[in-house]
Amino acid sequence: MPDVTLTTLQALKQKGEKITMLTCYDATFAKVSSQAGVEVLLIGDSLGMVLQGHDSTLPVSVNDMAYHTASVKRGNRGALIVADLPFMGYATVDQALQNAGALMQAGAHMVKIEGTAWLAESIARLAERGVPVCAHMGLTPQTVNILGGYKVQGRQEAQARQMVADAIALEQAGAAMLLLECVPVDLAGEISRTVKIPVIGIGAGPQTDGQVLVLHDMLGVSLTGRMAKFVKNFMDGQAGIEDAIAAYVKAVKDVSFPAAEHGFSA
Ligand code: KIV
Ligand code: NA
Repeated sequence: MPDVTLTTLQALKQKGEKITMLTCYDATFAKVSSQAGVEVLLIGDSLGMVLQGHDSTLPVSVNDMAYHTASVKRGNRGALIVADLPFMGYATVDQALQNAGALMQAGAHMVKIEGTAWLAESIARLAERGVPVCAHMGLTPQTVNILGGYKVQGRQEAQARQMVADAIALEQAGAAMLLLECVPVDLAGEISRTVKIPVIGIGAGPQTDGQVLVLHDMLGVSLTGRMAKFVKNFMDGQAGIEDAIAAYVKAVKDVSFPAAEHGFSA
């Protein structure tokens, strides 16, 4: 068992202490980040972009995810490990069960899948069989070709009401955690107060129960030269990477990150 469990995260939400999550793809950063106090390490399928150099997350395979999950597991010092199921890795319930099994056996403690209320069936079956699930809502990068780009989601009122309803449905289906990406600040706050499970945000403002960033982004290194509005470079003013990650943990805990300039309005 990791030191940080689902129970730890639920307790943090209950006492109003922010949860710190950061992407991680290898053993050395797993050690550094977990020792700096990051509670949740996410093997994000963002590795398709930041490690592999693709222009989206779609080319990532289950094998890619299992390889990096196993690497993170070896370096981890007590954090909870969450791994993304990649594009088309959970198109059916059977695929979700099989591929989640592979990632759990590689070292994940939870899997993350992107979608809306349609995820309910897979979430229920996975939870019954011992796999906690984080549901990723809002801007879901695996759906970029449907969304027509990487855009803020839930700005129209009807869309916002649907997102609240979907969040409730996925909690009822047995989701262990929610992740909201690029959602207006007030909507993310409403969802976080509505569900009892922890809600992690990225580009979703300060009212969620925790924050996540892509490691490379918060270290200020980029393949494309573009940085999203919600990112902060935590290397600024720091002597090294360990200090930058510790500064991220501190800023999430004392709610100085994200600031108003990192959020989106409706
Ligand atoms: O793949 C990833 O890094 C993610 C985070 C951006 C939440 O899903
Ligand atoms: Na992802």
